Amino acid sequence: MKILLLGAAGQVGFELHRGLGALGQVIPATRDGRLPGGGSAGIADLAAPATLETLLDDIRPDVIVNAAAYTAVDRAESEPELAQAINADAPALLARWCAAQGSKLLHYSTDYVFDGRSDRRWREDDATAPLGVYGHSKRAGEVAIQASGCDHLILRTAWVYAARGHNFMRTMLRLAGEREHLRVVSDQIGSPTPARWIAAVSSALIARWQAGAAWPSGIVHLTASGQTSWHGFAEAIFAAALETGLLERAPTVEAISTSDYPTPAQRPAYSCLDTSALRERFGISLPDWRKGVTQTLAELAGC
Ligand SMILES: NC(=O)c1ccc[n+]([C@@H]2O[C@H](COP(=O)([O-])OP(=O)(O)OC[C@H]3O[C@@H](n4cnc5c(N)ncnc54)[C@H](OP(=O)(O)O)[C@@H]3O)[C@@H](O)[C@H]2O)c1
Repeated sequence: MKILLLGAAGQVGFELHRGLGALGQVIPATRDGRLPGGGSAGIADLAAPATLETLLDDIRPDVIVNAAAYTAVDRAESEPELAQAINADAPALLARWCAAQGSKLLHYSTDYVFDGRSDRRWREDDATAPLGVYGHSKRAGEVAIQASGCDHLILRTAWVYAARGHNFMRTMLRLAGEREHLRVVSDQIGSPTPARWIAAVSSALIARWQAGAAWPSGIVHLTASGQTSWHGFAEAIFAAALETGLLERAPTVEAISTSDYPTPAQRPAYSCLDTSALRERFGISLPDWRKGVTQTLAELAGC
């Protein structure tokens, strides 16, 4: 089985590249044809969706795993066309190709397709209402994939972080070395989810299909259990980093509100996803988000 992995250099893509190998021949692709830490990959620039067709026709994958995305939530506000090309037009093309060839498409989406105005966890069939360009472009990708009629699986996840890449955990650890005091938003609530867990569930779902189960088409929510604010996430990172010896001292963390920290993109206040479908359909539930923090810090500390 041939698996084309797009976005192999991203947080989730990197973890997928480590994990998908047991399932078949993995062909990694990145924007510039380079893999993190050295090594070469195929070149796939999702900003130029038309060029993807040649790559697809050359490789003829049985499964496409699309971990590439435009994820710069604030910058997207000033680059809406680029966000749309990468997050909507490219997935649409992948989906059309899969529909025509009978291949499967595993794609990722986001909690930012919701407006955050809820007092319960968001379910897969709740109405979407993105607040910003990034969320709009990701939702347009979901819609296009579903309209294509291909066998697809869209895993909506949230607050992704890893021991590498650009993410909140690494930003906090860097700032801890530079500042005595940090101000972090405490009125946005979500479920921090390690990229490694997302990759592990993705591999398990593909393996399940390889073993004879029907392809699990549709949208499924996939996050760690529990919830916290960015402020709570920061405090948990510092507490665990002190414990593992990754930090010798931690900054004080002041809780502030979203209005104290204006950003170009508006973010949902409450974006926790209901993951009962993952549990009921596949018997999978991820651990509490705090376990992800200690695990990822242990990886960073080289334990
Ligand atoms: N990060 C989060 O908090 C979060 C939350 C919810 C959902 N998600 C979704 O989860 C999925 C994986 O996200 P992630 O956290 O792994 O993101 P990430 O670390 O930002 O990785 C995205 C990858 O896509 C690549 N990419 C960007 N533009 C490209 C282009 N034009 N052509 C080819 N590759 C391109 C990036 O390459 P460069 O490094 O060269 O730009 C990067 O390697 C995405 O679908 C994302 O929308 C993420």
